Amino acid sequence: MEHNEEKMRSSFQVMAGLIGMVKPLLGFMVLAVLMGCIGNLAATFLTVFGGYGLLSAAGVYDGKPFYVIAAVLIIFAVFRGILRYAEQSCNHFIAFKLLARIRHQVFAALRKLAPARLDGSGKGNLISIITSDIELLEVFYAHTISPVAIAVITSVFMSVFIGYQHPAAGVLALVSYVVVGAVIPLLNGRKGKESGQKYRDSFGELNTAVLDNLYGLEELLQYGQTGKRMEKMAEQTEELEKTSKRLKKDENVQRISTDTVILVAGILMLVLCGYFVREGEMDFYQGVIAVIAVMSSFGPAAALSALSNNLNHTLASGNRVLNILEEKPVVEDVREGAELEEGTVACQNIGFRYQEAQDGVLKNFNADFEPGKIHGIFGRSGCGKSTLLKLMMRFYEADQGKITYGGENVNNIRTDSLRSGIAYVTQETFLFHDTIENNIRIADENATRQEVEDAAKKASIHEFIMSLPKGYDSRLTELGDCISGGEKQRIGIARAFLHKSRMILLDEPTSNIDSLNEGIILKSLKKEKEGKLILLVSHRKSTMGIADKVVQM
Ligand SMILES: Nc1ncnc2c1ncn2[C@@H]1O[C@H](COP(=O)(O)OP(=O)(O)O)[C@@H](O)[C@H]1O
Ligand SMILES: [Mg+2]
Repeated sequence: MEHNEEKMRSSFQVMAGLIGMVKPLLGFMVLAVLMGCIGNLAATFLTVFGGYGLLSAAGVYDGKPFYVIAAVLIIFAVFRGILRYAEQSCNHFIAFKLLARIRHQVFAALRKLAPARLDGSGKGNLISIITSDIELLEVFYAHTISPVAIAVITSVFMSVFIGYQHPAAGVLALVSYVVVGAVIPLLNGRKGKESGQKYRDSFGELNTAVLDNLYGLEELLQYGQTGKRMEKMAEQTEELEKTSKRLKKDENVQRISTDTVILVAGILMLVLCGYFVREGEMDFYQGVIAVIAVMSSFGPAAALSALSNNLNHTLASGNRVLNILEEKPVVEDVREGAELEEGTVACQNIGFRYQEAQDGVLKNFNADFEPGKIHGIFGRSGCGKSTLLKLMMRFYEADQGKITYGGENVNNIRTDSLRSGIAYVTQETFLFHDTIENNIRIADENATRQEVEDAAKKASIHEFIMSLPKGYDSRLTELGDCISGGEKQRIGIARAFLHKSRMILLDEPTSNIDSLNEGIILKSLKKEKEGKLILLVSHRKSTMGIADKVVQM
């Protein structure tokens, strides 16, 4: 059986993968970057033109008259505001469109991976991918791609502009941009990665502990464990505070080093230009403009310093999302194939082992199930009864042997035909936040109210439902946890009675139900069995009483 490895990609591969997902929005992304560049340059040139204006007023610069420069200034100021707004809204439009797209893709992937993927361990991981990982990608799209592009483009543009005043000044500017935008963030990023990871780990642990203690409060009170738990939580809080302080310190160091480099760059530029002006290699006004330009253009590069701390985390999230999208399902749906036909269901020499497991669950299992009969499947807990039903539903494929429906191999039957032709009651009934009627009705959307009630009667749950103030219209959210395990199970069984299929698979349907209600349900099953194939799994001998044939596993 194929094993799905957790794939680790390089940062570059993750970024390439994430950018690949945005293809349909690439136009918007280019637009956002373009507006960001122009907006940032407009801000820088506001100051530069201010310099030209002053120089012109002082009579040092006579390239353009003062009023022309003033008009340009005003235009730039207005542009700056409009472009900034446009860039931000463009970025967020992209990010949210993308998140919707990615969520859609992840759910499509999950749909393919289910039900096997939701069966095993690692379900919790999936939830964090669906919620926080995808959410974090917003940071990548809205606050990573475009700032980097903007910083590179504007810095190159400014280096050329300053280099136009004097080539050496241009080189100095370029070097300072690289130090502020790349060297400092990368150096700090390496250090921040550890404290950042530690912070998130402690944060996660504390979160889990709080929820755990909240949900388990009754048990903790009963066993007198609250004091101990409080101490543990206080320790964790302290740990979190320590890491948080370290993180703040790192951030401050980074901010201070960035500011220092910017200042030093300004001073160096002043010294350099002063030298060139005295040597006659530069006009005085050019020297002033070069200094003003470099001092006022670090914005985009400095913005990158805040980025690198998040980047590792974002890329790890991206890696997990890409893994889900590329994960191969344990079984592929059969899209073209035979219809599910009635007839004997035969299991021939079935052998099966779960991916992660050492030992096989089923070995050389043989059984024939015929229509018109109730077949009991009996065996101790853990012997593979539920697994057998999952193989029959083709949630997994058998490693050896075959399962046939009316002679047709289950692997050749269209998956939708197979699943809609069988009413399968699992060990865990899931109830939706909806009315009881709708919860039963999901088995057959077109059923009348009368049919829903009949099914409920067969499952011996009708009287309980009628005892509720709103009867079938009671919403399960309002009932909260007041519904017992047995009542839940009986709603699951009612669904199976409502589902008009010729095959019913019941996995421990009465495990939480008292013998009186069990008797009623088993009697209903007996009435239903005419022309139907019913499989009844149980580890209880008494339940097997109504079976026409019993298979011991
Ligand atoms: N998704 C799974 N992944 C790995 N092992 C599993 C999985 N589901 C069940 N098992 C293991 O397979 C064995 C048979 O399980 P199951 O079919 O549920 O037994 P039963 O229904 O007879 O109690 C058990 O040892 C169980 O731990
Ligand atoms: Mg079971």
